[in-house]
Amino acid sequence: MTALHIDEVRSRADADFPRVVDVLSRKIALKSVSAQGITGEHMRRSAEFVARELHKVGVDAHVVQSSNPDGTAGAYEVVGSKNADPNAPTVLLYAHHDVQPVPEPSVWDTDPFTATEVDGRLYGRGSCDDGGGIAIHCGALAVLGSDLRVNIKVFIEGEEEMGSPSFIPFIEAHRDEFDSDVIVVADSGNWSADIPSLTTSLRGNTSMDVTVRVLRHPVHSGQYGGAVLDANTLASMLVSSMYDGQGSLIVPGLVSGEPVGGLQRDLDEATVREDSSVVDSYVFAGIGSLASRLWTKPSVTVIGWDAQPVDTSFNVIADATRIRLSLRTAPGQRPEEAQRALGDFLLAHAPHGAEVTLTPLENGMGWAMNPDAEATKDALEAMKQAFGVEPINKGEGGSIPFIPELQRLFPKAQVLVTGPEDPKSNAHSPNESISLSGLRNNIVAEALLLDKLGC
Ligand code: BES
Ligand code: MN
Repeated sequence: MTALHIDEVRSRADADFPRVVDVLSRKIALKSVSAQGITGEHMRRSAEFVARELHKVGVDAHVVQSSNPDGTAGAYEVVGSKNADPNAPTVLLYAHHDVQPVPEPSVWDTDPFTATEVDGRLYGRGSCDDGGGIAIHCGALAVLGSDLRVNIKVFIEGEEEMGSPSFIPFIEAHRDEFDSDVIVVADSGNWSADIPSLTTSLRGNTSMDVTVRVLRHPVHSGQYGGAVLDANTLASMLVSSMYDGQGSLIVPGLVSGEPVGGLQRDLDEATVREDSSVVDSYVFAGIGSLASRLWTKPSVTVIGWDAQPVDTSFNVIADATRIRLSLRTAPGQRPEEAQRALGDFLLAHAPHGAEVTLTPLENGMGWAMNPDAEATKDALEAMKQAFGVEPINKGEGGSIPFIPELQRLFPKAQVLVTGPEDPKSNAHSPNESISLSGLRNNIVAEALLLDKLGC
């Protein structure tokens, strides 16, 4: 049940939509790349912008700089609240205002920091991840205005893309500002721009640096090649030892899961091929449903490799190399455990007795939704009304590691993971974009959800 009629919600959302798009466009122009320094002026300006926009929709928002566990200055966070009725439930709205870097602007079709509308999508870095989440919350609060019947708390984070290093001390120091009955994390996405979803699970994430050394110093490749394999080749052998012939990981101790709550519909291979931009001849790795491979089974990606660039290469056998591995873990596996399993495997598979040394890096836990939570039903109903079609729940292969932390600190809170993304959004990649019809329907859905939670 809602107090407001869907037609009223939709007409308010339509009338307000140009303003929302303008806010999102100005947000994109702020270049809030957290990898360029969480404590930078650009991050403070972005946080202040978000706080001002929240003020305009009635949220008493302010910027607070967090502290890292080691006591150094942390991210610029935006916190705020809007109270309706002390007896009504409290809903915490989450999004993040930091964005991923743009290492190569030239490969974008439009300027990454100038919001540009093309064919019903708004392009720009952070248009979706997670400027879209901020736009959804601001839009929904504007739609409800003084008809709001739940108490709202808002947290817009400034360091999500950096793994939220100061998150735990921050929530511990601001417990009252987070304590809530329902938490809406708008940092994931929908099945498609037209079909809404709750996110049922997220993978965890852990990473490590692996150094492979074969020589104490580089040597002539003609003189020793044949007996001494170069460090890059040895590292490649080490990497391939993790896979069987079908491209499935064979590392013992890495847990594989299945889609949470059962698979409503498997991903369509042709669509995933198209959306991922994979070359025509490529054969997908792994076995089982495509959804399980992308959402709930582990995966390893080599995200960095220290090697001689081709243009400056010469005939020498590399003495050592270093790679960075990013491991996505099944939603329920502790990342420390997965990290240990992978590390043990790599040490045991050192090719030709090369020296392998490991430097473990950050760990982030995965998450699985509680399908029985009351708010889940309200959210699905609101999505169905807003989009006019039955929602299809989905898992996600990406990670939002603070969710299990929030759940641990506020065990009674029901967490709903929603968001602005769809498979065409290109989050973290060139030509990131948000579907404008999807954004508008997401705003209607969140307004309806908040309205239902107040009934
Ligand atoms: N919004 C993403 C998480 C996500 C990705 C949700 C894909 C749904 C689909 C989030 O901003 C993100 O990228 N998180 C990082 C976390 C990491 C820094 C620990 C990730 O997944 O790489
Ligand atoms: Mn995000």
